[in-house]
Amino acid sequence: MVILGIESSCDETAASLIEISGRKLNPHPRVLSNIVSSQVKIHARYGGVVPEIAARKHAEVIIPVISKILKAKSSKLKAIDVIAVTSGPGLITSLRVGVDAAKTLACVWKKPLVPVNHIEGHIYSNWLTADKKLTIYNLQPTTSINFPALVLVVSGGHTELVLMKDHGKYRIIGQTLDDAAGEAFDKVAKILGLGYPGGPVLSALADRFQVLGFRPQVLLPRPMIESPNYNFSFSGLKTAVLYKFRELEKSCENQPIMKCCGRNISCHHRTGARVLIASLAYEFQNAAVEVLVVKTVRAAKEFKVKTVMLAGGVSANKKLRLTLEKAVSVISGVQYVQPSLEYTTDNAAMIAMAGYFNYIRNPQKFKEGWRNIKVNPNLNITRTVKR
Ligand code: KG4
Ligand code: ZN
Repeated sequence: MVILGIESSCDETAASLIEISGRKLNPHPRVLSNIVSSQVKIHARYGGVVPEIAARKHAEVIIPVISKILKAKSSKLKAIDVIAVTSGPGLITSLRVGVDAAKTLACVWKKPLVPVNHIEGHIYSNWLTADKKLTIYNLQPTTSINFPALVLVVSGGHTELVLMKDHGKYRIIGQTLDDAAGEAFDKVAKILGLGYPGGPVLSALADRFQVLGFRPQVLLPRPMIESPNYNFSFSGLKTAVLYKFRELEKSCENQPIMKCCGRNISCHHRTGARVLIASLAYEFQNAAVEVLVVKTVRAAKEFKVKTVMLAGGVSANKKLRLTLEKAVSVISGVQYVQPSLEYTTDNAAMIAMAGYFNYIRNPQKFKEGWRNIKVNPNLNITRTVKR
């Protein structure tokens, strides 16, 4: 079966073709082509995603992106069998562009159209090609994912612990009460003058701080780490960074130089200030990762799951990947799965993968899917499929 996936929920226009072989519930997916056209440079100027600009850019590039995907299709392939598209959650005008393109293709080609929840897509990135490099803590690469499973979803808009009893059966057992983890990484990076989107830059700075053997000069709180639930809170942590940063600025005689030191690697005259900024990045990453990992491990034990998975853009974070893998490796009988780096942030291969599992459960339902599909910017994963 060949599935065309389309994704446009935020600031990435993406299309992908995947081919499914093997057993129905234990398939072997092959990503035939995968294109992500990112708008990140455009939004960087504004320090965040501007919805109107995002939608206009999606409209501009969606046909070229899909057409490139179709050209990349191997000549040996038969026609596309199913189209899957993100229908929510996300920015309504951005979602509309992907859904309208998918609807048009499904109507003209007379193909089934499957709506996919973006978060469900992130979860299914684990089925695409589970990380083959999982050997550090003696865990074996997985070929099948056993249920019940627990998924730590960490993206720019969501932070949730999702209990997955089976394909399409989700229960959110905990979530952030304020900022999402990715949002907190981005906001802290902004405070530290590291630019947008800040997650990857902050994380690289924190990792370098560790590799160079510096000792942290600040200690930040671990919000809600002891709370008797599976919720998170990152906004206080972000404010703690802001206060520490202001203290640093006050203690710096020359503020512009302090700012220069945060950004300009070639600036050596204030190495001390640079180290302090890196120290804050390092400690923030440590605090965020520790809370996420401690709560995930506690939930995995309480709900006696067989698999722990990681999903969402923040799953690209090296520290989080290593720490969670190590922590899960000592829980007996639990396997750990994380997506390959290329499928951690927004892409359409994960949408095609989730679309496959939704489709095989009830192919009839999606036969003329283009007639019924609705965009829902607030789509909730627990309402994706009847439980
Ligand atoms: O899932 P995603 O691509 O988009 C949403 O659905 O939100 O996630 C994007 C988020 C951004 O906040 C970005 O800063 C964060 O993921 N992110 C990271 C890293 N790579 C991406 N955060 C921390 N460390 C990273 N290496
Ligand atoms: Zn996402």
